[in-house]
Amino acid sequence: MTSSFRITLLPGDGIGPEIMAVTVEVLKTIGRQMDLAFEFETALIGGAAIDATGEPLPEETLKICKASDAVLLAAIGGYQWDSLPRHQRPETGLLALRAGLGLFANLRPATILPQLVDASSLKREVVEGVDIMVVRELTGGIYFGSPKGIFETETGHKRGVNTMVYTDSEIDRIGKVAFATAQKRRGQLCSVDKANVLEVSQLWRDRITALAPDYPDVTLTHMYVDNAAMQLIRWPKQFDTIVTGNLFGDILSDAAAMLTGSIGMLPSASLGADGPGVYEPVHGSAPDIAGQDKANPLAQVLSAAMMLRYALDQPAAADRLEQAVTTVLDQGYRTGDIMSASMTQVGCQAMGEALLRVLV
Ligand code: IPM
Ligand code: MG
Repeated sequence: MTSSFRITLLPGDGIGPEIMAVTVEVLKTIGRQMDLAFEFETALIGGAAIDATGEPLPEETLKICKASDAVLLAAIGGYQWDSLPRHQRPETGLLALRAGLGLFANLRPATILPQLVDASSLKREVVEGVDIMVVRELTGGIYFGSPKGIFETETGHKRGVNTMVYTDSEIDRIGKVAFATAQKRRGQLCSVDKANVLEVSQLWRDRITALAPDYPDVTLTHMYVDNAAMQLIRWPKQFDTIVTGNLFGDILSDAAAMLTGSIGMLPSASLGADGPGVYEPVHGSAPDIAGQDKANPLAQVLSAAMMLRYALDQPAAADRLEQAVTTVLDQGYRTGDIMSASMTQVGCQAMGEALLRVLV
């Protein structure tokens, strides 16, 4: 019997449409081969939505996303929208999507592929075998806390304000996701905070600690965020699963991603308590290379694999897709961002064609 799935596609800005086009072709091929029917609907987000509707997340887009089984997002943002008022910026659309779908848990794996060890800026012995999962809280913390704004003081000065706030229940629900994730991995969870300075972090640490007895098979440690940033580049293999708040997770997940040599290779999943999740590359919209057929589509393709695995419960199709990525790398195909000596440099489309050749 054919299984049928409704997928919302949000290509967004910059290289987004190029990497999305490759991924859709790959998904169609997998679908034909494995008897999966995908019903794709494309919607606007980010700068593309601002240009078309004046808003970075039109209501229509959120409606379409809510009615689907999963959302595949590429990337948002670009120089031309950077000076707009904040409520009209592409980033605001992404944050509104996360909030609108209740996506509080962001899973960002940083796994180094053996074929790409030399693409890392760190030494082989430091990065070989790195396999980290960053569990980032995504709908709370300083990104969403109030008060926020730029205010005028009584003395005529300006005062910029954001508020880092977490409630006990917000910490508990991300904590549970993190412990469960660590359980399925190597059973080590490192919670990252700034409890030596911030009250909000002290509450974070207390709540995460209180969850630990429910997960006797997971070893919990705590680390301050500055030390975690250092340890990630000093000895990344000490980490299995990391759980942290929104801002620290934003920063540390970029650092973890770069260990692997290319942020262009890494997928992510953003999940809520129920309803569709959003699957997207960790990288951004790379406006400097947009429209030039230079982008690496593999993080988008691997995001589709995560979608198949976690949202659509199609592990065989996900394996097949991930295997295809490994095979094209073994065949020596590289986009510019992961290029190294004696490999074959290809553009975005040609990388897609290489994947299709492997899949047929
Ligand atoms: C990310 C991005 C976003 C964030 C921006 C684009 C709003 O950096 O997904 O990591 O800060 O969360
Ligand atoms: Mg980021």
